[in-house]
Amino acid sequence: MTYLVTDNCVKCKHTDCVAVCPVDCFYEGENFLVINPDECIDCGVCVPECPVGAIVADVDLPEPELTLWQERNAKYSLIWPVITEQIAPMEDAEIWDGVPGKFEEFVEKS
Ligand code: SF4
Ligand code: F3S
Repeated sequence: MTYLVTDNCVKCKHTDCVAVCPVDCFYEGENFLVINPDECIDCGVCVPECPVGAIVADVDLPEPELTLWQERNAKYSLIWPVITEQIAPMEDAEIWDGVPGKFEEFVEKS
């Protein structure tokens, strides 16, 4: 199994998760973070750290969301640079918390 970053991270990017990951497997895009599924050791410590509940265990995601978020985390973790230290959240993070469909609109136009 692995843990995956999902839609609610987009345009929030609090990065509390980065501060606790023991294997530095978060990768940073302009407005979203992903986990490299091959590097994640499934410790789960990042899950309660995310203020907007964006990190989930793959086993808790139903299809088709599971495949979608597996593909997105795997793809972008090979493209984006690693992030190892917490930074300030995005401006307006509170406003975007809970808005649906952010990935399609702001990360990858479908
Ligand atoms: Fe890192 Fe553990 Fe979260 Fe995986 S589950 S991303 S290893 S903190
Ligand atoms: Fe995103 Fe939550 Fe981490 S908003 S950057 S998954 S703390």
